[in-house]
Amino acid sequence: MTGITVTPSSQYPFGCRIDGIEIGRGIDDASFRVVQEALHRHLVVVVSGTPYDAPRLIEFGSRLGPLEISVAKSFHHGAYPAVTVLSNRTLDGKPEGASDAGQMWHTDMSYNRIAGRASVLHAHQVPFRDGKPLGDTAFRDMHAAYESLPSDMRERLDQLEAVHEFEKIWTQMRARPGSTRPPYTDAQRQQKPPVVHPVVLRHPWTGRKALYVNRGLTQRILGMAPDESSQMLEFLFGHSEHPRFEFRQHWRVGDTLIWDNCATIHLATGGYGNDTPRVMIRTQVLGDEARYRHANGELGNRALI
Ligand code: SIN
Repeated sequence: MTGITVTPSSQYPFGCRIDGIEIGRGIDDASFRVVQEALHRHLVVVVSGTPYDAPRLIEFGSRLGPLEISVAKSFHHGAYPAVTVLSNRTLDGKPEGASDAGQMWHTDMSYNRIAGRASVLHAHQVPFRDGKPLGDTAFRDMHAAYESLPSDMRERLDQLEAVHEFEKIWTQMRARPGSTRPPYTDAQRQQKPPVVHPVVLRHPWTGRKALYVNRGLTQRILGMAPDESSQMLEFLFGHSEHPRFEFRQHWRVGDTLIWDNCATIHLATGGYGNDTPRVMIRTQVLGDEARYRHANGELGNRALI
């Protein structure tokens, strides 16, 4: 393992890029350890290179853990259900992939009983205007969001739990003008019932605390009257979405972005039309039950049915 460098972002308070590896060609164990350590330390990792396809993405993602099979089945990548296609193109009159994925603040897989570990997103086509890439992905550091709260509030939040549900983001995205999402189905509801997580998650790999609520998927805080819960969540969403906690990915074709889902929220910023194709492939890495339970006790380990 020679010539690998990890460079923290100079523009944002977190995030890094790694040079000297090519995910498309496969990476050795020592290089993988560099990626994993960088992920824990910097939360978002950018690796550039030449575009590669679903099997390579699966091979790389699986090194971080077992992969999620998305409930949005229509956008699975052909024979590879662990890979979702995000695309604004149509092929033979049909959408090639999800065209509105992630266009509100959220944390991937907070709708799972065990908080999701990471996501890996790889760019095949990036829209440009006037020489500038469009369709950035924006992130917020939820360790920093938690640590910047007053201590009395942190102490209170440490005791709270919240309900997360996939249906929330689906319904909100579907209500947007022009959405082509079909109605949420009973089958999806059964596959992803509401779950409970601590409002403050102890990171299962690093032990550091992070705020763990997000606008897309967090429904309510347990044990609070509906108004109080809404007010508290609205405050926490606004606080955590503030640009002072930002990292932003300006995409180039061949980039791979790996992010930590226990300590970040993210947003697909959109801002391009269907005349400028954006095509990405994504895989999502599930959490580790034993680590999650060890870090967070019984909290979050019961489904709310
Ligand atoms: C996502 O939320 O997984 C998609 C992000 C993006 O397309 O920029």
